[in-house]
Amino acid sequence: MPDANVEPQRLCASGDLQECGDAVTFEVLEHGHSAPAFAVRYDNVAVAYLNRCAHVPAEMDWLPGQFWDQDKRFIICSVHGALYDPPNGACVSGPCRGAKLVPIAITESDGEVLWHPTERLQPLF
Ligand code: FES
Repeated sequence: MPDANVEPQRLCASGDLQECGDAVTFEVLEHGHSAPAFAVRYDNVAVAYLNRCAHVPAEMDWLPGQFWDQDKRFIICSVHGALYDPPNGACVSGPCRGAKLVPIAITESDGEVLWHPTERLQPLF
């Protein structure tokens, strides 16, 4: 649920998120603790998730900001190969099939990508 008390946060320029390109990584506070997150663009829509696999709570990128599988169709966890559907973060293959990444609401406006804090996910101040 959006936190009406906290303004949307600028994440990057829209052009920084290329179709199936490198992720923009950022940090949020989850219940007061720093948590890594990332945003990518798929099918011309920007999406963002915590960088935390639903199998084991590990960071998923095989190199910093590299989240795509070979075909650039799925977000892949480099630890055991779980594949996530970019639009909804659902695991479609791998050891946590059916589980989901933690989504972060983002919007684009005037060439900027913004993420929207919630009670759970807050900006670092
Ligand atoms: S930690 Fe991601 S698939 Fe196991």
